[in-house]
Amino acid sequence: MRRCLAPRSIRLVHPHPLWPQHRAYTAPSLVQKPAHTTRPQSGLHEPSLPRRPDPYLLLKPQLDHLRERLLNLLGSAHPTLTDIAKYYFLHPSKQLRPLLILLFSRATNGLGRDWNQKKWAADCEGAGGRTEELDRPLSRPDVLNDWNPSMPDHTASFTSVFSLVPPRSPNAPPSPPPRRPASEHPTVAHDSAPLPTQTRLAQIVEMIHVASLLHDDVIDHADLRRGAASGPAAFGNKYAILGGDFLLGRASAALSRLGESEVVELIASVINNLVEGEILQMNKVAQQGAALVGASYVGSDSWNMYLKKTYLKTASLMAKGARAAVVLGGARDGEIWKEVAYAYGRNLGIAFQLVDDVLDYESGEAALGKPGGADLQLGLATGPALYAWEEHPEMGALIARKFEKEGDVELARGLVRRSSGVERTRELAGAYADKAFETLQHLPESEARSALEGLTERVVKRTW
Ligand code: FPP
Ligand code: MG
Repeated sequence: MRRCLAPRSIRLVHPHPLWPQHRAYTAPSLVQKPAHTTRPQSGLHEPSLPRRPDPYLLLKPQLDHLRERLLNLLGSAHPTLTDIAKYYFLHPSKQLRPLLILLFSRATNGLGRDWNQKKWAADCEGAGGRTEELDRPLSRPDVLNDWNPSMPDHTASFTSVFSLVPPRSPNAPPSPPPRRPASEHPTVAHDSAPLPTQTRLAQIVEMIHVASLLHDDVIDHADLRRGAASGPAAFGNKYAILGGDFLLGRASAALSRLGESEVVELIASVINNLVEGEILQMNKVAQQGAALVGASYVGSDSWNMYLKKTYLKTASLMAKGARAAVVLGGARDGEIWKEVAYAYGRNLGIAFQLVDDVLDYESGEAALGKPGGADLQLGLATGPALYAWEEHPEMGALIARKFEKEGDVELARGLVRRSSGVERTRELAGAYADKAFETLQHLPESEARSALEGLTERVVKRTW
């Protein structure tokens, strides 16, 4: 076994003037104070800032590699199951969540007090953090009985006979280097490239996202995704649901091998959040509408419900994924880094979904592969419809009956068009993005931080 030395000392990278004086961060209460009157000033809109690196270009090789390697995790004994599990990964996608995780890793690696130990575990054989070690099962392969033809050494089919083998005592793990003393100034590491555990986390998060899309396309009866046949359209509902479940199973096993129970807890709770968000979307906004039919104003409850649903369905995965990346980089309780990651991911995620809700009205078939206002057809009242309700009280009745009566969808579309709902939702997204941008200023300056700033900007300006 290779001798594992403590990592080289890390280099100071221009600390930001605001850092490490940590400002208190409060989430924006944008519903009470409409965004268009309270737009915060951040660097997001300043024309004089230097050009930021393109986040996708900066990490293109890593993103390509990540997607390629991800397919190896998805083989199964059943060819159709393998095909459906890989299906959405074979179509080009934005890979926004993996990008966020890799960028946050690069922007924060070195800052956490346990970084030395995490870096050491990634380099040192037997410490559990090297790429090949993350593929290795924690239990005997014939106990797992989960056959993956891409990893024949690590998995086993149930067709072989299980033999009782007396267990050997495990090798003593190598001893880790000491953690950085609290008195030492935290700096971004000279080599802050994502650790193998962080890259694997990015794959896990994408697997969970894709699992949710397969299920979502069954719920939404979607024929198309990204302009191609959806999973249910190509394989049928049963395979789409089972394919999603299979992805969740593989993601869970990979998650446990990261060896960090805080990360397991964070990511497992995202799965609950996704389901809760979907259920909330099905029921609650319409119920609020029912309670307020005829009211001349939109209750803040409707907005709370909508934003809660938006967090659960979209922002939770980004917020907790970014937080988990920082945990894997050695951030400890009592340090600001986990909070920065969560706050950034949460605000970015909400901004992203609000823009999505705007694009649903603005774009037609070409951009989204579905007709404009498709959310209305699904019975959903999103930001533009809620703002339109403020200006046109008759929208309340339509929301209450989930646009189910003949002509309701067209009526609602017309009300949204005659209101400033789309514009105000865009402004609200901008306000969340501004908050995300502000949050980044707690991190020391780095190329990765600039790329995260660029990503924030792209999320609000995007047309996809
Ligand atoms: C896309 O929403 C869907 C989601 C963001 C999450 C869906 C979650 C579930 C179906 C719960 C089950 C979760 C798991 C992990 C199996 P959308 O319909 O607004 O967007 P779209 O236009 O991309 O379909
Ligand atoms: Mg959908």
